[in-house]
Amino acid sequence: MRNAGMRLAIACVCLFAAQAAGAQEQRVPSSWTTATVSGEGQPRGYVEYQRFCSMCHGEGADKPGTMALDAKYKGAIPALLDKRTDLMPGLIKLYVRNGITVMPTFRKTEISDADLNAIAAYLTRNNKSKP
Ligand code: HEC
Repeated sequence: MRNAGMRLAIACVCLFAAQAAGAQEQRVPSSWTTATVSGEGQPRGYVEYQRFCSMCHGEGADKPGTMALDAKYKGAIPALLDKRTDLMPGLIKLYVRNGITVMPTFRKTEISDADLNAIAAYLTRNNKSKP
């Protein structure tokens, strides 16, 4: 019994530490530029983007999103969403909630509004003319 209580206490401390770290990330947008693949210690938008989008919009010849956008823009703008400087938050949300061709519709039970806002913030971080 004592052991179980101890384990619970440790779990609580870890959870709290993770939340505190999460809150910290939101305040440090400069960490966008030092994003790592693991996503550990990275801002929420980056992490959620890796989780929900990168399997199609990441780098590589087997990524349908990247391939489709490469064909669409023919190199005039980057095929990788996270390299774009022209994306607007509203447009990203429209695509994510409605889908397009093979890109699925993501419901709020899959990607919450807060997570979608974070993804939009991540993908528009280099757009100087965003509202
Ligand atoms: C199953 C693969 C797949 C997933 C997962 C996916 N996408 Fe897409 N996405 C595509 C494809 C393919 C296109 C291009 C469709 C076309 O225009 O032919 C696209 C297009 C887009 C566009 C339009 C870009 C433009 O300039 O036309 C945006 C924005 C976008 N995706 C955002 C996202 C975000 C954000 C996520 C994650 C929440 C995501 N996508 C997840 C496949 C995917």
